Amino acid sequence: MAPSRARLYCGAAAGYVCYALYRRWSRGVPLRGATVVISGASAGIGAALAKECAKRGSKVYLLARNQEALDKVVAEIGQENAVALRCDCSDAAQVAKVAEAVGVPTVLVNNAGAGAWRFLNEAPASDVSFCLGAPYVAAALLSREFAPKMIRSGKKASILAVQSPAGLLAVPGAASYVCARWALRGLYESLVQDCYSSSVNSQMAVFGEVSSEYFSTNAGAADRLPKIAKWLVKPILTPEAAAVVAADQIESGRAVVFAPFMLRVVACLNHVCAPAVRALVVATSSVSSADFARGA
Ligand SMILES: NC(=O)c1ccc[n+]([C@@H]2O[C@H](COP(=O)([O-])OP(=O)(O)OC[C@H]3O[C@@H](n4cnc5c(N)ncnc54)[C@H](OP(=O)(O)O)[C@@H]3O)[C@@H](O)[C@H]2O)c1
Repeated sequence: MAPSRARLYCGAAAGYVCYALYRRWSRGVPLRGATVVISGASAGIGAALAKECAKRGSKVYLLARNQEALDKVVAEIGQENAVALRCDCSDAAQVAKVAEAVGVPTVLVNNAGAGAWRFLNEAPASDVSFCLGAPYVAAALLSREFAPKMIRSGKKASILAVQSPAGLLAVPGAASYVCARWALRGLYESLVQDCYSSSVNSQMAVFGEVSSEYFSTNAGAADRLPKIAKWLVKPILTPEAAAVVAADQIESGRAVVFAPFMLRVVACLNHVCAPAVRALVVATSSVSSADFARGA
């Protein structure tokens, strides 16, 4: 290669790296003094993140359906820094009410999520849309209300999606759950583009297994985790550890974060050789096509 062309390519690469670093660092949102809205904050990762943000100096709005559980978290944080707003975030009218009460947040965390891991024919047909309700519909409705206001404010802001590895790589016997997760990933990607030239940063935190109530609330999901995930993606995070990762991500501006580190390794492997990773996932799953055919 001619030296001048090599210099041109090196210059372009260095320019790109500088721009990427600038975008990342300039997009971090300090949590001190921020107003943070968290969906699904009555338990698990959402509750832990509400406490972590309050500890770092934010005022937090906690959204979920269970008022009693929300009140407990608010009592732990202290009423001067936390407000409980009962809301089924998959319901547009309830989300609009909440949006009116909050005003313009600095950070929106789309964390609410539910849904059992089942084959398509293992549950009533309504399960297909139920699974989409939270995370996807909830995240879309909240983003629809808040993102335009955040952009208009012109201040640095963040919309963070709390994601499962199933949003990057399907797992057998969990179609409706997986599709809802891929929809959430689509929303994250869309918001990256729709907010690209604004001061709003669309982010995604992908967590491996977290020791929350999720697996007891959504019975059967734990049994369907492919063994390869159990072997490779370690350690299991506590909700508190996941909350620290998410809060650091908001403050650093990083677009996508994987925790634990081994999850990033799996995501990279999947990126370069999806068929091999898919085969491993299927081979180490506790369910098969025969179960699907039977309706498990
Ligand atoms: N646990 C894991 O291993 C893991 C790993 C990666 C990602 N995630 C994701 O992280 C998020 C939080 O999970 P978690 O482990 O903390 O689960 P969790 O302990 O079961 O908490 C789920 C939260 O979502 C809320 N929620 C569910 N449906 C809602 C709705 N329609 N409207 C408002 N709030 C709703 C629940 O509150 P109410 O019932 O009071 O409404 C609860 O606060 C979920 O999206 C989950 O898929 C979990």
